[in-house]
Amino acid sequence: MTISTRLTDLAPQGFTITTSDQSSRLLALTLDTEVVAAFAMAMEETPVQALEYKSMLRFRAARVLDELCGNTLRPLLINAMVDRATGGLLVTPSSLDRVEQADDMVKLATAVAHCFGRSNFDAMSGQYYARFAVKNVDESDSYLRQPHRVMELHNDGTYVEQDTDYVLMMKLDEQHMEGGDSLLLHLDDWAELPQFFNHPLARREMRWSSPPSKNIGKDVFHAVFALDAHGRPVMSYIDQFVQPRDFEEGNWLTDLSESLESSSARLSVPVPVGSFLLLNNHFWLHGRDRFTPHPDLRRELMRQRGYFTDRQTLANPLHG
Ligand SMILES: [Fe+2]
Repeated sequence: MTISTRLTDLAPQGFTITTSDQSSRLLALTLDTEVVAAFAMAMEETPVQALEYKSMLRFRAARVLDELCGNTLRPLLINAMVDRATGGLLVTPSSLDRVEQADDMVKLATAVAHCFGRSNFDAMSGQYYARFAVKNVDESDSYLRQPHRVMELHNDGTYVEQDTDYVLMMKLDEQHMEGGDSLLLHLDDWAELPQFFNHPLARREMRWSSPPSKNIGKDVFHAVFALDAHGRPVMSYIDQFVQPRDFEEGNWLTDLSESLESSSARLSVPVPVGSFLLLNNHFWLHGRDRFTPHPDLRRELMRQRGYFTDRQTLANPLHG
């Protein structure tokens, strides 16, 4: 059975879908040049600012793209994002690979995300998406923009009171970059998952707080592990923002972090300019490998995080 027939009975039009070079869990979806060009033309009169101001237009962008794919894209995305065996895609829009096309990149990524979800307000940028640069020197208060070290595997949205069902991470620009690939781990590939999931601390509520740049200003409380709608483990964890209460919690969390970082199932995925990763945030962890320092190093990224509007992973989604 091919991947697309397992996910939907519609044959793909305007795009191809295969497994990625790195793993059969990570799918590779490539949009045809003609579709990408037709989408850019159809959206010419809709600047990114219009998508920022009028939320409804993000869904119209999704419909435009799905129609260009003969209405075969949306069902595939809805199913792929909640498919436990995969739930992750590397999306490559053909011929959309230069930083001058950054606005078209934002529009296209927005269209893809709004085929199956709605992107949440991003408190860091004050928009439904955030663009940010990684440079050789950084003075921020978290590891988000610091290049010369690994950003450890984590889930997004651990310190907000919203469902963060998906994360979208797009590469808008890259210069003088060596290393810095995305690091990914599917929960079911982590050999020590049962050991940590079955531990009494797995379901104890812990406190999560974020540094000032995140503009949240409020702690949230939840356990590291929960169950999805089918009783399978899901995770909400990040090493930098969990605030262990005591010796026992702090050491259990450190053991968990060490186990994740040493997992042999961790994938290293290069994301070319114009491409983006789309992950189910409940059973995929993500991070970033270290870069080689360079004085002119520059990388610009765009992220969107949001909730699923159609099929769900969580048993009791807030937006269900
Ligand atoms: Fe993240």
